Amino acid sequence: MKQDKRFKNEINRMSLQMPAISVNEGMARAAVAAFCAQLSPDATELADIKCAVSEAVTNCIVHAYKNRKGKFYITVSLFADRTVQIAVQDKGCGIPNVKAAMEPLYTTDAAGERSGMGFTVMENFMDRLHVTSRQGKGTLVLLSKRLGRSTEEE
Ligand SMILES: Nc1ncnc2c1ncn2[C@@H]1O[C@H](COP(=O)(O)OP(=O)(O)OP(=O)(O)O)[C@@H](O)[C@H]1O
Ligand SMILES: [Mg+2]
Repeated sequence: MKQDKRFKNEINRMSLQMPAISVNEGMARAAVAAFCAQLSPDATELADIKCAVSEAVTNCIVHAYKNRKGKFYITVSLFADRTVQIAVQDKGCGIPNVKAAMEPLYTTDAAGERSGMGFTVMENFMDRLHVTSRQGKGTLVLLSKRLGRSTEEE
């Protein structure tokens, strides 16, 4: 079978799925950080990844499943060139206009508790952010970051 080109240099991968409830946000963030630790990211890189994952997972918890139960799904791939790729997915309501939703300060939160900065944070803390969404089907957030040279290799 022909190997998918994107994953040719993949060296490790983990997947997890959890109910989209707020108690699981910290667990997901910590699990991703623990998995990425094998590439020896520096403290800033690790903090950036944790922040981005936290925003993506919080969106699954807060926005994806309105008044119904659902799960979020995370896959983390590590590549030989020290790229970390994180997919955060839900099977919730979807986003009608992704481009608009990604604008800073855009929020559909009527209660005034949200600032509409989640996607902006993800964009700033990672190298790449790609969002695809289908109404009624769910949302996929792809985050990637290439880590600098490991100090452990010097
Ligand atoms: N997984 C998702 N499912 C459905 N809608 C989403 C999802 N993620 C984001 N959205 C929509 O995109 C909007 C913008 O998301 P973003 O994370 O930037 O801001 P926010 O969540 O409203 O506020 P903040 O992240 O600052 O608390 C949300 O208000 C929501 O309407
Ligand atoms: Mg958000």
